[in-house]
Order: sequence, then structure tokens, then C-alpha cells
Amino acid sequence: MATPDAEVSESETAAWSRRRYRAETSLMPHFTRAQTWRAGRWPLIVGGEGCWVWDSRGKRHLDGLSGLFCVNIGYGRTDLAQAAAKQMESLAYASNWSLAHPAAIEAAETVARLAPGDLDVTFFVNSGSEAIESAIKFSRQYHRSQGSPERVKVLSRDLAYHGTTLGALSASGLPKIKDPFEPLVPGFIQIPGTRGEPASLDAIEAAILAEGPESIALLIAEPVQNGGGALVPPPGYWSELREICDRHGILLAADEVICGFGRLGEWFGSTRFGVIPDVITFAKGATSGYVPMGGLVVRRGLAEALFTSAGTFLHGATFGGHPVASAVLVANVAALEHERVLERVRERESVLAGALAGLVAGHRCVREVRGCGYFYALDLMVDRDSETNLSDDAAMELLVEVLPGALETTGLIVRPDDRGGTMLIVAPPLVADEPVLDELVVRLDAVLGVVDGYVRR
Ligand SMILES: Cc1ncc(COP(=O)(O)O)c(C=O)c1O
Repeated sequence: MATPDAEVSESETAAWSRRRYRAETSLMPHFTRAQTWRAGRWPLIVGGEGCWVWDSRGKRHLDGLSGLFCVNIGYGRTDLAQAAAKQMESLAYASNWSLAHPAAIEAAETVARLAPGDLDVTFFVNSGSEAIESAIKFSRQYHRSQGSPERVKVLSRDLAYHGTTLGALSASGLPKIKDPFEPLVPGFIQIPGTRGEPASLDAIEAAILAEGPESIALLIAEPVQNGGGALVPPPGYWSELREICDRHGILLAADEVICGFGRLGEWFGSTRFGVIPDVITFAKGATSGYVPMGGLVVRRGLAEALFTSAGTFLHGATFGGHPVASAVLVANVAALEHERVLERVRERESVLAGALAGLVAGHRCVREVRGCGYFYALDLMVDRDSETNLSDDAAMELLVEVLPGALETTGLIVRPDDRGGTMLIVAPPLVADEPVLDELVVRLDAVLGVVDGYVRR
């Protein structure tokens, strides 16, 4: 049960201070500024139900980010918990190394059923980054096994985030998070994304010709790119990307770590854009975040060609296809199907998109809203009418001080982002119904009011 907002007693405040101290001394936060961490400007989340989470002080927050784009089915699902418990009781662990088990088989068949075209063979790992590593390794070993060992380069787009392990980081187009770890993996080439320039497909083909098509193994792109803020491709983009890859013998990977499992109203974003990629990487929403699970689903012909020629895909992980994660994936998909959640997303998409567009009209600090399905970015500036952009200092203060404070006060979780602009990223659980979406927009309105006040102070 979601607890109501409660008065904070003195003893609760003392307990919060103790926990904060314990967190600061024992927990290394992910991608969190020291200033924010040490100031204790973060909620301590202790429970969740549906689209809501609440913190140790009893304050409820509307989760407009589905955790980190993953809790698609919402919090507090006993069916998923029961599936995990049942699997733990019957077979807590078995690998996918030289053996199989029923849970992984069922999970693989489930993914194949949902994936477009002949993407029928699934390789399970534990995260999005590992899924990307697996796609890179699959493409290199595939080409080698087919007599093209010189095809090793990987193309990926500007501003894209594909994960933190060294291969996935090399594929990411965000210098700020790459620079501290140089030298990264050689052979990774950044190509233009869909932001701004309409000629980006020509530029991609030009980059391929400049690099030498016969040296390129893989092109990775998200159906709707998160880095840069919910960048929806122009019509025809994906089919043309497909044609370019086919023309040059390059494998096409759709990174669906965010877009997969319903975020865009389809099981995979590729389906929305009418393309059959060679591989799809997934994670996050596959289990609605209840347990870690990622993977790679590959076209049958490619998997068979590698297996037949090379004998072995020389890659694996202890926890790949873990029985408990597999059982949760199957239960998650069953729940999403039974409750027709994707259909509802498609029905409600225009309501959400329309309400967010209404916020643009009401706030001059919003340049535009982009996105589709249950995945949007509100791009911020000082004043749309006078076309005044944020200074670097104001953008930083917004990101570090103003927005976290306003979100905390409002009881809203969305993501302030500075990758290619100053933005708020909105991606609510897919079970968010009209009343929840209304509440989300009311709370966003309040937060944007604070931004308006700040930029025109
Ligand atoms: C598009 C995309 N790919 C890959 C990843 C990496 O996933 P993970 O954090 O599970 O390693 C992310 C994470 O946010 C992502 O958004």
C-alpha cells in the first residue's frame, strides 16, 4: 500500500541523518556528483507500489522515470515476486554453459516470439552494457567466421549512451564520460545522430566510405535515442539505415535497452519503425527491473552461420540466463500481455504527448518536447520567445541545485539531463493510467514554474 505523505518526526529525522551518514561512508554512488551526495540531497527510497515510491520519511514521489527506464509494469507486483520465489525453490541456479534449463528456454522463446522477423535466438546476460558487449563480440566473431576478419570497426551515433563497460563505453558518443578512461577500445567510430541535421544518413554513408566498408562489423543505434533527449528519427530513417548496412555488409544492431519491452508501445521499438535489425540488445524493462537481466536476440541465420563455421560463440557469463531472472522475464511479459499494457500505452500516448505539449505552451523556459510512446524529453532554455539559451553557469545550477530541489519538493522523479542540452527526461511506468498521467503533468507544471522563476530571476 502506498503510504500517505506523513509528518516527519524528530526521531525519523535523526534516523535519516544516521542512514545518510552510513550511505556516505559505505556506498559509492553511480554517476552522482559529490556535492549532491554529500549534501544529502537524495531521497532514501524504501517502498513502491504502482507508479509511486516513498522515502524513509514517508514522502511519496511519483516515479516519472520508471526507476531508470525499467519498472515498466510498476512496483509491488506479487506475481513477479512469486515467479522468482517459485523458481528459487525448484532450481536456484543453472548456467547456459554446455547445458540448459526450462526457465531460460521459456524466456528465450518468449523473446523470440516478441522480436520482429527472424530474430529468434537469444543470448542472455545481466545488463544493458553486457548486452552491447555481446553484440560487439558477436559481430566481430560472426564476420571472422564468414571469412572477413578485417571487419572489426563499430559505428555508433553522437550523444548515444550504450553503457559503461569498456566496449559499450567506446561505442558511446559522450566524451565527458569517456575521457577519464582513455585509451578506450580502438576501432569505434562516431557517426552523426538524428539531432538537427537532416542529412545525417548521407553523412553516415560518407563515414562508412571514408573508413572503408570492408573494415566495419557493426552499426549500433537506438530506435529513439536517449542521449540528446528522446530523439525520434525522421520518417524512413530506419529503413534507409537498414539499406545502408545491407549495401556495405555491416550488421545492424538496435540498442533497445530503453525502447524494448513496451516503452514505445511495441515490444521492440524496431517494430514501430518498421525495421528488422540483425541483432537487438535489451535489458531494463525485460524484467521490469525486478531482477537484473539483459540479452541479445539475433537473426537465426546469423547465429547458425557463426555456430556452424566457428563452432563456438566464445563468450559467456556465469549468470547469463539465470533461472530466477528468466522466470521473472516470462512472468513480466505474461503480466504485460494479460493486462494489455502495450495497447494501453498506444491508446494513452496521445494524451501524454498532448499534455506535455500543453506544458510547452504554458512555460517559456521549454524549447520543445520530443518523444513518443511513454518516453519524452522537455528541452529547457531561458526564454523561447526571445530565443535566449541558458548560460553554462545557469545550466549547471539548474541541474545541480534548482531541479533536484524542485523535484524533491514536488515529489516527482524525472531525470535532469545535460547530454546535448538541459533537459527533463520523462518515462513513466507503462501502467500509468490517465489519473497518474494527469498527476505527472501537474507536478511537471510545478517544477517548470520553478525553472521559469529561476531563469527570469
Ligand atoms: C540505450 C542504453 N544502452 C545500454 C545501457 C546500459 O545498460 P546498463 O546500465 O544495464 O548496463 C543503457 C543504460 O541506461 C541504455 O540506456
